[in-house]
Amino acid sequence: MEQRFSVFVVEDERKMRDILRINLDPRYEVKFYENAEEALEEYYKKTPDLIVTDVRLPGIDGIELMERIKAVDKKTPFIVFTGYGSINHAVETIRKGAFDYLEKPIKIESLIQSIERVRSYVAVFRSTAKPPTQYGINVDGEQMEIVTRDPATRQMLNLAQKASMFDSPILIIGETGTGKELCARYIHESSGRRGPFVELNCASIPRNLLEGELFGYKKGSFTGALSDYEGKIGLSHGGTLFLDEIAELPLELQSKLLNVLEIPEYYPIGSNKKRKINLHIITATNKNLRKIADTGEFRSDLYYRIAVIPIKLPPLRERKCDVLPLVDYFIGKKDKKYVVTPDAKLRLMSYSWPGNVRELRNVLERSMLFAETDNIVHDVIFDTDSYSSFENGMYTAVDEAPERWEDFKRFKSTALKARKEELERIFVERLLVKNGGNISACARVSGMDRRQFQELIKALGIDTTIFRGGREQANT
Ligand SMILES: Nc1ncnc2c1ncn2[C@@H]1O[C@H](COP(=O)(O)OP(=O)(O)OP(=O)(O)O)[C@@H](O)[C@H]1O
Ligand SMILES: [Mg+2]
Repeated sequence: MEQRFSVFVVEDERKMRDILRINLDPRYEVKFYENAEEALEEYYKKTPDLIVTDVRLPGIDGIELMERIKAVDKKTPFIVFTGYGSINHAVETIRKGAFDYLEKPIKIESLIQSIERVRSYVAVFRSTAKPPTQYGINVDGEQMEIVTRDPATRQMLNLAQKASMFDSPILIIGETGTGKELCARYIHESSGRRGPFVELNCASIPRNLLEGELFGYKKGSFTGALSDYEGKIGLSHGGTLFLDEIAELPLELQSKLLNVLEIPEYYPIGSNKKRKINLHIITATNKNLRKIADTGEFRSDLYYRIAVIPIKLPPLRERKCDVLPLVDYFIGKKDKKYVVTPDAKLRLMSYSWPGNVRELRNVLERSMLFAETDNIVHDVIFDTDSYSSFENGMYTAVDEAPERWEDFKRFKSTALKARKEELERIFVERLLVKNGGNISACARVSGMDRRQFQELIKALGIDTTIFRGGREQANT
């Protein structure tokens, strides 16, 4: 028999416990505790799938309970009841690692929806689907591929693939050109949903038309509504709705979208006929949406709904190992056989790529144009206006550096390790490019022992095959 989803509920009020018991018992394996101490003791005997707790409790409060448990196991999800109507308090609760918070008085439906979200979230992480090794996608008849050797990106794509099996909303976060749309299409294809993939860029449509574009309208419901219109939500029925640049969605539409996410039904503008829909919502942003939600410019309740499963696509400068495979991929799409010289490759690898993969593709297109005579790409022609913007990395550090000293120390040591690796990688890869992937030659040129060089390669996880290959034989 399938094991039931197990929940600990910590609530000191007897009446509240009774209400929760009546509603939750039929659905989940629930255990009730009057205080955090008892729950903690039980927790060590048997870990539940979820803990639902009130904040104000006699003795240890709900937040401390969460902190103590998170110190042992970060993964146990929490839903916290906050009773003080303070948005700061709620935000703080999420910061400390709660999956969701609900304001008192508790609405049972909201609680059940929240628990269901935790349930699909847990299911995604537990599902044992085998990670794919290639990420092929069919985009309007064209066969495309997400090219990456970067472990962090692969991990994200594997998570995306698992998440596609569930209907939990997915938020894709990444700078411009990192492949967010490609990833959304990949999730749609992996999900096996038969309906269409429908895209809407929230920044590309004037605010006053966005509502109609999303929810559809009846003819004559406003000036300019010349005929009935389905709307993107209606059009994506049975499929996936991809909302790009979600941070640009105006506040009033945010609450309408939130309603659709809670109960998948809505009224098109000017219609009194409710429409029920079945769709998977994927959103994307290149902003720090969590920050924007903290300042109140984006509804934090919507943020927590759409960010149930966040997929973060790293910028290209943080996965330099993808540059050469991407170069090969884009060049391989051409009918002509182009060759990129080692010098040109080095320049491609040392660039910071503020426009990420899209910029790389454009730069290559342009560079190939200039290689028309001999098909050898000697020169790399960068976008002149973006060449200098390398500060990006610093902004990330300012954004992400924690305020607590203990956390900062950990952050700093990880960052330093990454920097060290980056420098070593530059050293090794430059040699590999110059010597066509020949390890003995690299060792000789650098004055290193062959074994020592090989160990460095191994430690950095560099795949030397991408430096070999027939095409790379051209010399400058
Ligand atoms: N890993 C990848 N492998 C192959 N092609 C990629 C990869 N990542 C991105 N691309 C290509 O780069 C271009 C930009 O990707 P995409 O449009 O998905 O980025 P985006 O993150 O949605 O950008 P924006 O924020 O500007 O909308 C597309 O042509 C896409 O096919
Ligand atoms: Mg996009």
